[in-house]
Amino acid sequence: MSAIRPAAVVVLAAGEGTRMKSATPKVLHDICGRSLVGHVLAAAGELEPENLVVVVGHAREQVTAHLAGIAPDVRTAVQAEQNGTGHAVRMGLEELGGAVDGTVIVVCGDTPLLTGATLRELAATHAADGNAVTVLTAEVPDATGYGRIMRDEASGAVTAIVEHKDASEAQRSVREINSGVFAFDGRLLAEALGQVRTDNSQGEEYLTDVLGILRSAGHRVGASVAGDHREIAGINNRVQLAEARRILNDRLLTAAMLSGVTVVDPASTWVDVSVTFERDVVVHPGTQLHGSTHLAEGCEVGPNTRLTDTRVGAGARVDNTVSVEAEVGPEASVGPFAYLRPGTRLGRGGKIGTYVETKNASIGEGTKVPHLSYVGDATIGEFSNIGAASVFVNYDGEHKHHTTVGSHCKTGSDNMFVAPVTVGDGAYTAAGSVITKDVPPGSLAVARGQQRNIEGWVARKRPGSAAAKAAQAAAREASGEG
Ligand code: UD1
Ligand code: MG
Repeated sequence: MSAIRPAAVVVLAAGEGTRMKSATPKVLHDICGRSLVGHVLAAAGELEPENLVVVVGHAREQVTAHLAGIAPDVRTAVQAEQNGTGHAVRMGLEELGGAVDGTVIVVCGDTPLLTGATLRELAATHAADGNAVTVLTAEVPDATGYGRIMRDEASGAVTAIVEHKDASEAQRSVREINSGVFAFDGRLLAEALGQVRTDNSQGEEYLTDVLGILRSAGHRVGASVAGDHREIAGINNRVQLAEARRILNDRLLTAAMLSGVTVVDPASTWVDVSVTFERDVVVHPGTQLHGSTHLAEGCEVGPNTRLTDTRVGAGARVDNTVSVEAEVGPEASVGPFAYLRPGTRLGRGGKIGTYVETKNASIGEGTKVPHLSYVGDATIGEFSNIGAASVFVNYDGEHKHHTTVGSHCKTGSDNMFVAPVTVGDGAYTAAGSVITKDVPPGSLAVARGQQRNIEGWVARKRPGSAAAKAAQAAAREASGEG
């Protein structure tokens, strides 16, 4: 590993990415919970380079701010004008003092499917063959737009890269392309970049010209052929963005399935790179798992569920639910049709049931909130039951207040808990109560109007109506006149 540890990785990310047709710089577009450049940095990071430099240009304030957030150790070099990939690498090297001893790896910021393994293989080939430069190539079905790899007919040695726009018909028929990823000898790279000219169809400094320059100077030029050409695909538009997302998602789900997760329908299941699973998890169709979501052993999630930064405990069941920054305890049950908002914590064996919304709520072991309720800013103890259609009234229009319900409580249906308020352990509340005062442990709180029946009202006020006739019939039946 240390033998192939590069002195530097230079990531090219100064281009505009016009074809994305976006206000967001291309390399900041997201697939599977990470920006395009974030994926490239993750792969590059696996090489443990001594220096990691990203060349920024277009929208550099935005890109730099993003990098500071995801990879604070990364250095940035500014390429004010995009004068070509060779010029971009020169700017990257300038940030490192002009030249470095050892291997310099160059990658593009828009190839999110590139893996650390492929980069390691490139670095290993480069070191083993003692090359001045080694280019990562691939055979692609359609080489349009790519630089073509020229090889010596007799020896098969790489002689040059010719850009599509500068290539002849015969050269364009070559299907082996330049991925844009290279390993260079740092000193020779810096020297050769000084000799790159701009007399090409785009008037740019081509990094690819370095190959021909080094070969002419008698240095060894080699290639490492990628096993899967899809891995080196650069993203230029949103169609390719969607294709890459699909491929990466498939990779992540394949890894999950091989580690013991049942994914019922991989086609409709979407995961972020940072999602983790334990074995015997079952993921039903239409499920999206984002951020730091973790699914513990044997839990079952979906269908039609979106979990963001949510931990689901072992053996729990989460059905048709949206959840953000929440924790579901082991053996607990959520949904169908629940909305767990940030700060929700459901204890072991607890239940957040149908049409229930929770926020900043700690719901203890075995406690159930089964139906049609809102629980916000609350602490509920263990083994309590919250009646259907209850609201934790937490907002007075200006401030949020907290409600505490103890353990082993049974609150009635259609209760309003007007915070701040506390219901003591073992207390009951009557259905339809508006609880505005603390309830001592073990009491029954009744907070509603007394019922009053005004007999004969319908016959007097709605004479001759269907209701009056039904009441009359009921009265006859009751008196035995039937
Ligand atoms: C480049 C290669 C081509 C290769 C292809 C692979 C050159 C001359 N051509 O072509 O052989 O097949 O990539 O996808 O190298 N960039 C900068 N500054 C610049 C220009 C580009 O940072 O001045 C960055 C871009 O942001 C991008 C990368 O370099 O990440 C490649 O640039 P792009 O314009 O896409 O090059 P291609 O024409 O695709
Ligand atoms: Mg490109």
